[in-house]
Amino acid sequence: MKTEGGPPLNLNPEPHAASDRRRLRGGAPIQIGLLGCGTVGGGVLRLLAENSGYLAERAGVPLVVKRVVVRDLEKERVAALDRGVLTTNPEEVVDDPAIDVVVEVMGGETPARALIERAIDRGKGVVTANKLLLAAHGPALLARASARQVDLAFEGAVGGGIPIIRTLRDAFASDWVERVTAILNGTCNYILTRMRDTGASFDAALREAQALGYAEADPSLDVDGHDAAHKLIVLAMLAFGAQVDSADVHTSGIRSIEEADHRYADRFGYTIKHLAIGRDLGDSIELRVHPTLIPKQSVLANVSGVLNAVLLEGRAVGPSLVYGRGAGDLPTAVSVVSDILDVARSIASGVAGMQGRGMSIKPRAVRPLGEIVSRYYLRFAVEDRPGVMGRLAGTLGDAGVSIEQIVQQGPTSSGAAPAGGAAARQPAVDVVLITHDAREGLVRNALDAIAREQFLREPVHLFRIEEP
Ligand SMILES: NC(=O)c1ccc[n+]([C@@H]2O[C@H](COP(=O)([O-])OP(=O)(O)OC[C@H]3O[C@@H](n4cnc5c(N)ncnc54)[C@H](OP(=O)(O)O)[C@@H]3O)[C@@H](O)[C@H]2O)c1
Repeated sequence: MKTEGGPPLNLNPEPHAASDRRRLRGGAPIQIGLLGCGTVGGGVLRLLAENSGYLAERAGVPLVVKRVVVRDLEKERVAALDRGVLTTNPEEVVDDPAIDVVVEVMGGETPARALIERAIDRGKGVVTANKLLLAAHGPALLARASARQVDLAFEGAVGGGIPIIRTLRDAFASDWVERVTAILNGTCNYILTRMRDTGASFDAALREAQALGYAEADPSLDVDGHDAAHKLIVLAMLAFGAQVDSADVHTSGIRSIEEADHRYADRFGYTIKHLAIGRDLGDSIELRVHPTLIPKQSVLANVSGVLNAVLLEGRAVGPSLVYGRGAGDLPTAVSVVSDILDVARSIASGVAGMQGRGMSIKPRAVRPLGEIVSRYYLRFAVEDRPGVMGRLAGTLGDAGVSIEQIVQQGPTSSGAAPAGGAAARQPAVDVVLITHDAREGLVRNALDAIAREQFLREPVHLFRIEEP
């Protein structure tokens, strides 16, 4: 191929670049130490073995697994593991001067944090998929890596196999990301999809997800929203340059969603998704994780089952979507091994420590929930008697919250029983309404007043509405 008026394009400069790299390291392989050999670690070993030739070509030198740290030496492992490299002593990885890249796929904060810090201090490149650790200590770890001129890569930590970290760090480095709207937890998305599509209860959909291996025996981290919150904090670090305390991220899960909410959402033209939402407002940022009604025809509404998606909005680029498998051994291993390749290539080329160069991450104010402006879905189980609808609308109106749509249907779908006394004679009905844009603090004031009314049979169901 020839470029017009220029020299021929060399589409395969590899022999030259590779020989340069070999000269730099004397052709020595990049030695890898793995901390953990579970779901993700097993996938990493498989990909490193299956794609070894291609990966060596891309890195310029072979990639070799020197040590793998586990707790239990007897446990069955993937066939790609050479059992001779197993150890229970992590010091054999982080303190071994021959190991160039430490891959942390053990999870949790202790001892992962101390081991990563030690690896960085000893000048090693680090790859991790540990969102919990990054959400708590990401900025400090990145600063440490930068000071030591080593790379810290973490594509596997958010969205499993979907390339969202690179997209934010590199592809959108020239733009200003204004908004992130994401489905970041496959367990929640699976449960909500099944509730919507089959009319199943939360408990039944959770049991199904557990039977299929999509939910843990203790599903709290997923269904209570914390996993998605950790991932949102990591995304906010790259999208908004924000160092955020997890206590500042409003986090709620999906346990309170009932079948009736799916039915009413559908009737109003919406689907319920568990969303992680980030906005850069200039003087502050908005970060929240909660069930959200979004229009049925929107792109995110059609991300079903265990799939994840991140919708980014850049000031210059506009909307952009990454979408795919957000967890699992091989999808996550694709991200981790690509990180290993990147870090190895930088070491082999003598340019380690460039990944985080110029990245600025600092504390930013997170807008309190009471100050956000949104539309709301509100479902009330109330006594079926004249005047109740008027009292609801009046109380909301007095607080400055105006109603866009309202429906009444009885008897109440959740079967709320009359409390007793005079109320016991009244059947209960659902009143469901959609508000216009309102400040959340005002909505909460109105709900506090409504909570004192005798006609209310159970706590209100509140979900925010977004138009992503
Ligand atoms: N699973 C996914 O789909 C996924 C997706 C994205 C990110 N991640 C992240 O990837 C990381 C690993 O997840 P995973 O699902 O692969 O976990 P996992 O299956 O529980 O594997 C953890 C591995 O680490 C080892 N380990 C844990 N603590 C240890 C310790 N103190 N000393 C030595 N070895 C220790 C375990 O050893 P034994 O085998 O001997 O018990 C096991 O091999 C986590 O940070 C997770 O959040 C996972």
